[in-house]
Amino acid sequence: MSEQKIKVMISKEEVTDKIIQMAEVLNKEYKGKSLHLICILKGSVFFMCELAKYLDVPVTVDFMQVSSYGDGMVSSGMIKVKLELSESLEGKDVLIVEDIIDTGRTLRYLRDKFAEQNPASLKICTLLDKPTNRQQGFIEADYTGFVIEDKFVVGYGLDCAQKYRNLPYIGVIE
Ligand code: IMP
Ligand code: MG
Repeated sequence: MSEQKIKVMISKEEVTDKIIQMAEVLNKEYKGKSLHLICILKGSVFFMCELAKYLDVPVTVDFMQVSSYGDGMVSSGMIKVKLELSESLEGKDVLIVEDIIDTGRTLRYLRDKFAEQNPASLKICTLLDKPTNRQQGFIEADYTGFVIEDKFVVGYGLDCAQKYRNLPYIGVIE
């Protein structure tokens, strides 16, 4: 298969600047507390690592892996848990870190599942938001980097059939 061409949608510099701004907001909001970051694998790992570098509150991390897309560009609608959290969320200030919210099904499922563990607080932080495919009121992030139009994007953790996660920018396959 020949290489696909990727057009830059959000540059490396813009992504980094935005992440620094998001961290500044979080540093203010969680001042005096500790933050338990839940990285939703695999896509969010790049975002979470970059964000965590700029946080000055005490941070712990955990990982959960779910998949809803399979290898295609259209959501299968089914959420499969592939890796569970390693610690309880009880009493913790939890921040779910996502790469992108599309229909919102993945996050709604995870938020409801995590809420059962009685965290002290539970919020959602996403690098990208594609609100077009979501029903109003279904789920919203508390902290959003970029709101984008309904295009399939890759890079900064986001993949197309597992490729392109390592691109340092957000791009669109042409
Ligand atoms: P949702 O459950 O429809 O909100 O889908 C969320 C998940 O689908 C994200 O965490 C991504 O893994 C994946 N996804 C949604 N949109 C895109 C995209 O444009 N590019 C790559 N992955 C995407
Ligand atoms: Mg994801």
